[in-house]
Amino acid sequence: MSTVSGKAVLVTGANRGIGEAVVRELLARGAARVYAGTRRPLEHADERVVPLPLDVTDPGQIRAAAEAVESLDLLVNNAGLALLGDDLSDGAMLERHFAVNVFGTFGVTQAMLPALIASRGAVVTMLSTSSWANMPLLPGYSVSKAAAFSLTQGLRAHLAGRGVRVHAAIIGVVDTDMTAAFDVPKASPGAVAAAVLDGLERGEDEIFPDPASALIADAWRDGAFKAMEREYAALVAG
Ligand SMILES: NC(=O)c1ccc[n+]([C@@H]2O[C@H](COP(=O)([O-])OP(=O)(O)OC[C@H]3O[C@@H](n4cnc5c(N)ncnc54)[C@H](OP(=O)(O)O)[C@@H]3O)[C@@H](O)[C@H]2O)c1
Repeated sequence: MSTVSGKAVLVTGANRGIGEAVVRELLARGAARVYAGTRRPLEHADERVVPLPLDVTDPGQIRAAAEAVESLDLLVNNAGLALLGDDLSDGAMLERHFAVNVFGTFGVTQAMLPALIASRGAVVTMLSTSSWANMPLLPGYSVSKAAAFSLTQGLRAHLAGRGVRVHAAIIGVVDTDMTAAFDVPKASPGAVAAAVLDGLERGEDEIFPDPASALIADAWRDGAFKAMEREYAALVAG
């Protein structure tokens, strides 16, 4: 069964970068409704797009978004923050990363859970190769993405018995505003968006949507850490 065609999807950070590309790809694949969460007002030509004011650090906006969503099959936790000039000497910077990348993701996911449980839906969170190896140009960001990966594993274990699949997109460097300062090879947002949705269709726990991240896919899937995750998850399997 398709995870997209005819389905209702919410994308956070939907106005630019990978989020905007995911919205485009969802529409091309026949999504029935795309809730586009943004911090600034958004207008969209496609009538299937429903703009939602959604700063993921704002509990009131999260609550209002959950009330506005009639039904939901897929949540795309895409909103993310990466601050330049960080060297892990400033606790306030680390807190800002966590507020968006960890607690924002957590808050939106919790708010959307009743709808996702009702639809036996899915969550995918945009994570990073820096979830697994701290990238010292963005060290606090990397710490937060590592925490968000663990959050994803924990939610996967606890939501499996309630019929909700939880996926992680492990993404390399993509050509968006977030990486404008870095002169390295970059994947295109459109290709990454398409590959994330392909990975969802295949039911992959971890999705490796670009050439750089694909290099570690086999080592992860066949490795000791994934085996350990499954072993631990069995402790709470209903
Ligand atoms: N680009 C990469 O190389 C890369 C690699 C691995 C993972 N990722 C992840 O992929 C996701 C998208 O990244 P991107 O490259 O598209 O980033 P981007 O171009 O910097 O866009 C970030 C998006 O997140 C939104 N956002 C930031 N803080 C928010 C908040 N408090 N509430 C709601 N929305 C917020 C931004 O909204 P505003 O326009 O209002 O600021 C924007 O829509 C992020 O989670 C990122 O960590 C990206």
